[in-house]
Amino acid sequence: MCGIVGYIGTRTASEILLEGLRKLEYRGYDSAGIATVLEGQIHCVRAKGKLHNLQEKLAGENNPAQIGIGHTRWATHGKPEEYNAHPHMDTACRIAVVQNGIIENYRELREDLKARGHEFRSDTDTEVIPHLIAECLKEIRHQEPGASSSEPGLTVDSFPDPARTPKVNPPYPSPLSSHSPLLEAVRQAVTQLQGAFAIAVISADYPDELIVARQQAPLVLGFGQGEFYCASDTPALVPYTRAVLPLDNGELARLTPLGVEVYSFEGQRLKKAPRTLNWNPVMVEKQGFKHFMMKEIYEQPGVVRACLEAYFDSEWDSSNPTQSPVQLNLPESLYTDLQRIQVVACGTSWHAGLVGKYLLEQLAGIPTQVQYASEFRYSPAPLTPHTLTIGVTQSGETADTLAALEMELQRRSQQPPEFQAHLLGITNRPESSLGNLVPHIIDTHAGIEIGVAATKTFVAQLMAFYALAIDLAFRRQSVSVDQLAKMLDGLRQLPAEIEMILESQERYIEELAHDFAETQDFIFLGRGINFPIALEGALKLKEISYIHAEGYPAGEMKHGPIALLDAKVPVVTIAMPGTVFEKVLSNAQEARARDARLIGVTPMDEQEAADTFDTLIPVPHVDELLSPIVTVIPLQLLSYHIAARRGLDVDQPRNLAKSVTVE
Ligand code: M6R
Repeated sequence: MCGIVGYIGTRTASEILLEGLRKLEYRGYDSAGIATVLEGQIHCVRAKGKLHNLQEKLAGENNPAQIGIGHTRWATHGKPEEYNAHPHMDTACRIAVVQNGIIENYRELREDLKARGHEFRSDTDTEVIPHLIAECLKEIRHQEPGASSSEPGLTVDSFPDPARTPKVNPPYPSPLSSHSPLLEAVRQAVTQLQGAFAIAVISADYPDELIVARQQAPLVLGFGQGEFYCASDTPALVPYTRAVLPLDNGELARLTPLGVEVYSFEGQRLKKAPRTLNWNPVMVEKQGFKHFMMKEIYEQPGVVRACLEAYFDSEWDSSNPTQSPVQLNLPESLYTDLQRIQVVACGTSWHAGLVGKYLLEQLAGIPTQVQYASEFRYSPAPLTPHTLTIGVTQSGETADTLAALEMELQRRSQQPPEFQAHLLGITNRPESSLGNLVPHIIDTHAGIEIGVAATKTFVAQLMAFYALAIDLAFRRQSVSVDQLAKMLDGLRQLPAEIEMILESQERYIEELAHDFAETQDFIFLGRGINFPIALEGALKLKEISYIHAEGYPAGEMKHGPIALLDAKVPVVTIAMPGTVFEKVLSNAQEARARDARLIGVTPMDEQEAADTFDTLIPVPHVDELLSPIVTVIPLQLLSYHIAARRGLDVDQPRNLAKSVTVE
């Protein structure tokens, strides 16, 4: 959830680190810091709050160091204060470390290290790491031929008591220690850590080495000409290089000005080749928009077009349908005997899963369950045969979603063949941990999303579910070819429909938002395929405007939430013609009878709508099954403009981080 960046090369490290942190600030923003090695010392600068505080502290410094690490933090252990900000150092300030993730056994390690004389200066779990590396390094140096036991600050008496030596320490000497004592020390240290972590380490005693390691938290290496980078996410690398190598779990790497070496935690050298990212630096800029979120809302027509192009066969002929109109390049084994689907996801991706359930059940006739990954991992549904498990995560790094999928793999591995796991991922980041975990991916082609509130990636996830459901419906012949052809036509109209909403409604919604800057509670109602959109509208509003909002299936309102209604509570109702249209309108009337201000998201004409709603947000008339893609757009705009009107930081809302890499 935090952001890590590291650099070694020939340029001024602090500038590259700051620029990298700027690109990663969306991952965490309660404090930041950088450490460099200069003239045999570690130079560490940290600041509480947003990155500009650190920038101000660094302004005017002339630090030519060519190696360094940086971090932007989302607090897990310890308050967001400067003394808890990364990088953290060992007692002698010779080693500096930045970390993402959580070290679960930090208390035990901390006590052990304190007993050995290490001084701790923060409340974080991370701080055990530099001390532990220092301890390992001390021992490695003692093993070196001709090493003196009277090294400064270390006496034979202070040498670790074997009984207290951490049990998982490997036997000495290790093959790596002569090659690089720092690498070996980091290797030994990480094998003693429990939990999820990605770390970057520098040492004043080894000024030409940047060591990184990864266990259950993302870390990517970047390759330049005589310069190398690491980052917890690729946007930090894109301005410098497109040649990247994501580390896998249980791997560490040594970056020097001469190159990169990758090793397993067991110390084996691994051969790995970088891959080329299909991105350019402009993608990670705001391009004239005030916020990334607005830029990303406006990118949605293009995203839908990219998905149409990627998933659907433009030559498909419904009068001679010899093959599916969908081209997802998934193996036949995923479709064979398929009886059930289960979706695991979090947040907005979970909402996409709910729309997916509707499509998979109504179009393809396949019973589908959608579970919060965080619940599924501790109370999974009983095993069913011939089940496809779909993990939906835009970042591909959400810890709960990854853990739920791993658990599913594990529990099915001991079962008879019909219970074996069939895993599919829907993600915007095929190069992510999800991409490594599951054998098949539907890439959502949305381009990098920086705003913490998911917008374009949600719409892209919906497109992935349309493609999958149509593919399955065709193969199972659960829907007529004519109906599928009609849906495809409708899907192809969607980019223009979204453009129309953006052009005709944005200004109007901006004005409307003035009415709600002081509102304290909102209700969003939808039914059928638009119930998840009501949930999504409420989530968007909550996370960026801090206004309490609830999404409900419209028919459920009278079973409780109606008690909340009065003239101060606006009710946003999604009313799209189709199976539940009249029902939703009746539910809306029930709210109006309690004096609530009714806002209708509907294609009804003004006259007609005036009888039902106090305020109308018009959307084009589209097929009910496709309507989520048009109804969600005004809800994104409404939450954006309310938050902006309240003067809030739309792209980096408080307490949130773009990808939730801790449990
Ligand atoms: O990267 P993921 O799709 O797995 O993220 C899941 C949620 O953390 C995410 O959707 C979150 O709810 C967003 N902030 C929603 O806007």
